Amino acid sequence: MVAAEIVKTLEDLITDEQIARWRRDTPGCAQRMHLNNAGASLPPRAVTEAAVGHLQREAEIGGYEAADEAAPRVAAVYEHLARLLACAPRNVAVVENATVAVSQALSAFDFAPGDALVTTRSDYTSNQLMYLALARRRGVEVLRAEELPAGGVDPGSVRQLVRHPRCRLVSLTWIPTNSGLVQRAEEVGEICEEAGVPYVVDACQAVGQMPVNPARLRCDYLAVTARKFLRGPRGIGFLYVSDRAVERGDHPLGIDMGGALLSGPDCFELVDGARRFENWEFAYALVLALGEAARYAVEAGVERCGRRAAELAAHARERLAAVPGARVADRGERLCAIVTAEIAGWPAAHVVQRLRGIGINTSATTVGYGPLNAPGTGAPTAVRLSPHYYNTRDEVETAVAAIAELARER
Ligand SMILES: Cc1ncc(COP(=O)(O)O)c(C=O)c1O
Repeated sequence: MVAAEIVKTLEDLITDEQIARWRRDTPGCAQRMHLNNAGASLPPRAVTEAAVGHLQREAEIGGYEAADEAAPRVAAVYEHLARLLACAPRNVAVVENATVAVSQALSAFDFAPGDALVTTRSDYTSNQLMYLALARRRGVEVLRAEELPAGGVDPGSVRQLVRHPRCRLVSLTWIPTNSGLVQRAEEVGEICEEAGVPYVVDACQAVGQMPVNPARLRCDYLAVTARKFLRGPRGIGFLYVSDRAVERGDHPLGIDMGGALLSGPDCFELVDGARRFENWEFAYALVLALGEAARYAVEAGVERCGRRAAELAAHARERLAAVPGARVADRGERLCAIVTAEIAGWPAAHVVQRLRGIGINTSATTVGYGPLNAPGTGAPTAVRLSPHYYNTRDEVETAVAAIAELARER
């Protein structure tokens, strides 16, 4: 092993002391066993302080004045997000959440009746609703690619579908909300690039649990929310916009004066870069907290942290598989830090409530999220455990033991 590799290996090591430090940074760890990072993670203290500190300044000196005062720190938010995505700050737009990010991206395309949009069978429910709204309002044909036998989109099927003479867009959810699955987003990106078809990636569950590089994905747009594996606050997210999309002159349909200048009664000029996708009004406290979350994630090391989260999840799956009455519902060739399991005789929402009562946070995933978003095995509901790097094996063991006890009650 050469010296550089040894240094890298040492950097990747996560010691008990490091985990203890991450947990000390996270006040919620003292209150709960939080295995709901795919819902909303526990934020590090610095994230909360950034938001609360700014709200305090707004109360003390006024909202517009506090924004002016924070301008250098707001500019730094774009630097932190750019570092996280290995892109330039000009490629980042801060928006309210991942759903808004996807909606802004979709609205940049002038779909006409008969145009086709290619997507997957694992796309997020709200995204599917938007595709269907485009079908209803604009006559867009929604084409869903076939699945691989193990689950997840078959890139070969995408390759076939993009041959549709009027294929205008491919849209894919990289990590769906509910099944541990990691879709083959990079392969789909290569296919899109070859076919010259724009590509939107929903990376809502990916950012913070794996390195995300839009250039490697070859996507035009990438949508993210702050509150999940990135450990930011609720109610804020961001959209990566490629230079290619900017140069094409893309802009959202609902553009506002944050994104364009009204240069005459009948004309407007777009602002440079991704920020044409932003709105003028900003939740500055949340924006600053988002920047802190990105800074913290980069400092902690997304790759090694994601590896640890995935290892904890794999451990949870292994332990759950041995619980009588529990059935792990995850599917896919590559699995992430989201674990879903059906517990015989128990609606998942009841399991979640019982666990919450003893200080363990999980969530429930149900067919209510849409027929295409049912838990992997077709179970009507499943309990979802989503550990992150600051969680411990003991927490996973405790949660599985509690689930085993519930399963024995039935
Ligand atoms: C895969 C995926 N995409 C998009 C979203 C939507 O994110 P937001 O609620 O921030 O709009 C979620 C939320 O759970 C998600 O899991």
